[in-house]
Amino acid sequence: MKVDVLLGLQWGDEGKGKVVDVLTPRYDVIARFQGGPNAGHTLEFEGTKHVLHTIPSGIFHDGKSNVIGNGVVIDPVVFKKEIDALVSRGVNVKSNLKISRKAHLIIPSHRLIDAASEAAKGKEKIGSTLKGIGPAYMDKTGRNGLRVGDIEHPDFLSNYKKLVDKHIAILKQYDFEYDLPAMEQGFFEGIAMLNDLTLIDSEYELNRNVRNGQSVLAEGAQGSLLDIDFGSYPFVTSSHTVTAGTCIGLGVPPSSIGEVYGIFKAYCTRVGSGPFPTELFDETGETLRKRGNEFGSTTGRARRCGWLDLPALNYAIMLNGVTQLIMMKSDVLSGFDQIKVCTHYKYRGKVIDYVPYDVVNEPIEPVYEELEGWSEDLTGYNDLEKLPQAFLNYISYIENATGLPITILSVGPDRKQTMVREEVFK
Ligand code: GDP
Ligand code: IMO
Ligand code: MG
Repeated sequence: MKVDVLLGLQWGDEGKGKVVDVLTPRYDVIARFQGGPNAGHTLEFEGTKHVLHTIPSGIFHDGKSNVIGNGVVIDPVVFKKEIDALVSRGVNVKSNLKISRKAHLIIPSHRLIDAASEAAKGKEKIGSTLKGIGPAYMDKTGRNGLRVGDIEHPDFLSNYKKLVDKHIAILKQYDFEYDLPAMEQGFFEGIAMLNDLTLIDSEYELNRNVRNGQSVLAEGAQGSLLDIDFGSYPFVTSSHTVTAGTCIGLGVPPSSIGEVYGIFKAYCTRVGSGPFPTELFDETGETLRKRGNEFGSTTGRARRCGWLDLPALNYAIMLNGVTQLIMMKSDVLSGFDQIKVCTHYKYRGKVIDYVPYDVVNEPIEPVYEELEGWSEDLTGYNDLEKLPQAFLNYISYIENATGLPITILSVGPDRKQTMVREEVFK
């Protein structure tokens, strides 16, 4: 079988966690391939809400294998909290969760460097989640990092200390106060717990899964417009959030990739700094934020809101080789007389339909088309045939503009508020 991929086409928080949970019954294995605790993936079912940061969103379904791939960075402190919460809900993490030995560790001093570096940037800060993501990936590519597999080695403690010493030297260049020992207790408790879980050579296991006819769903974190290469650099995260990141982050070959589910909100949000061409600073933006409850799942920060951006969406579709689209939060658009969609940008005196190189230092102005809105509350709908005509027109409009079918529609946060168009879903 193939490895299908589900990833965000915007700036993250598209609703990946919800849809992975909905699709899990169709798969044998769910695998996260990049990112770390900067992610917050929300699942709602049976009246409760769960936010996952590092653990794949298939974890609430019994008998499924959930794999944290080598491309992920794990903070044992956050991870232990997640595990404790799952165990208290009766999830069997020992058998349903497997962790790649090649995944890198976020150590407390990574978080300190993240905080010190952001504070030093002042107005130019990236708006990082301050989870130590950038410094941990820097140590990975700088060949200094510690990996999950290293905790099984007798020299782990001395290797940890060597890395901390390097970090203390870096921290000296900042005017930044910290109390590292206070952070270390939780870290070592997390390491002990990690040692007790199932550590694997995940590239072998996943390739075996594929060979043996098991289906794998790869779950992305963040979004394509936060990709380290293709996002609005430097306002990006430090990993490859696009489909190609799946091959690197799981050790599966490009030929094993099957469907690519590109997930997007019916409008746009962004949390943290960086360009956002369709951002709304008015009443409409405030309405989207309130109706969509647009506050970060990881940091609680208010998300910036704006209209759907087609040039950016088509850019993400191109980078990822998306085969089908999933549209989220359609219910949030109910009640607007007119809905705007950005079809082009005005840039350097020209009208363009692509994302230019420099969107950070040069002004970019959205060109909108207006579509008719709908007043019906969509949250109770479960029959595609009965959806309001104006909403169906919005769907067709996006399908025409992207050349792809929208095969899943989400109309509320709950697992049940999801419509799969089975006739087109693959
Ligand atoms: P992720 O990071 O991509 O998994 O997304 P987040 O969990 O950070 O953010 C998505 C938010 O929207 C969560 O609070 C979800 O519960 C919520 N959500 C998901 N789908 C829908 C939807 O169709 N409608 C509404 N109103 N909320 C949704
Ligand atoms: P999920 O998986 C939304 C943003 C941060 C910041 C930038 C860099 O829930 O969609 P980092 O901590 O990675 O150094 O932050 O990226 N960011 C996210 N925004 N959703 C996420 O994850 C994000 N992960 C990071 O706000 O602007
Ligand atoms: Mg999120």
